[in-house]
Amino acid sequence: MSRALFDKALEAAKAFHAALPAVAEFQPWPSDIRWAGREGHQVPGAALVQSDPGYAAKGIPAEAEVRALQQAIIALAPHAEWRRTYTEEEVGQDFLLRYGWFELVGPTGHFHSLQTRMTIGYWGPGLDYPWHQHTPEELYTILSGSADFMAKGEEVRRLVPGDTKMHGPNQPHAMITNGHPILCFVFWRGEGLADDPAMSPD
Ligand SMILES: [Fe+2]
Repeated sequence: MSRALFDKALEAAKAFHAALPAVAEFQPWPSDIRWAGREGHQVPGAALVQSDPGYAAKGIPAEAEVRALQQAIIALAPHAEWRRTYTEEEVGQDFLLRYGWFELVGPTGHFHSLQTRMTIGYWGPGLDYPWHQHTPEELYTILSGSADFMAKGEEVRRLVPGDTKMHGPNQPHAMITNGHPILCFVFWRGEGLADDPAMSPD
């Protein structure tokens, strides 16, 4: 049963990719996708994706595709292999209880691909995601909710459903959720797709 939910999410992700020009331009849809058969893994934050996913898209371009992917991810949440990259020392206990991510497509994803890493990330309201970085280039897209995104050398931007934001290789970036949670779909390209992000040096 859960395989059908993953297939539906992948189909919704492909339609989303085609419908948002910034996403389609970031990278082509991978040609090497295959089901990897990974087991689910729950973290406390995963339940919040269903109970409090953040406000949905309204009156934006590609609204139907953004909403369809949001709904497919909400349905998938109880079956996904959720992870938490950071330690309590790095982000605090509250952050660890109200955040999580999983890899839909990628080197260690539910669907295997060596051409991309596509992850879903969730953060509850009022969380401070400290400065961090990684080698691959990144495109954030917002499925529901909102947050303030910061990147070194750039103005702070409040992102809402349908928005996208790029980060360059090893460009430090950070995020703060305010009164809303946020559900993101994140694309990576380039070297180091299987690596975890690291906190930026002070
Ligand atoms: Fe990032």
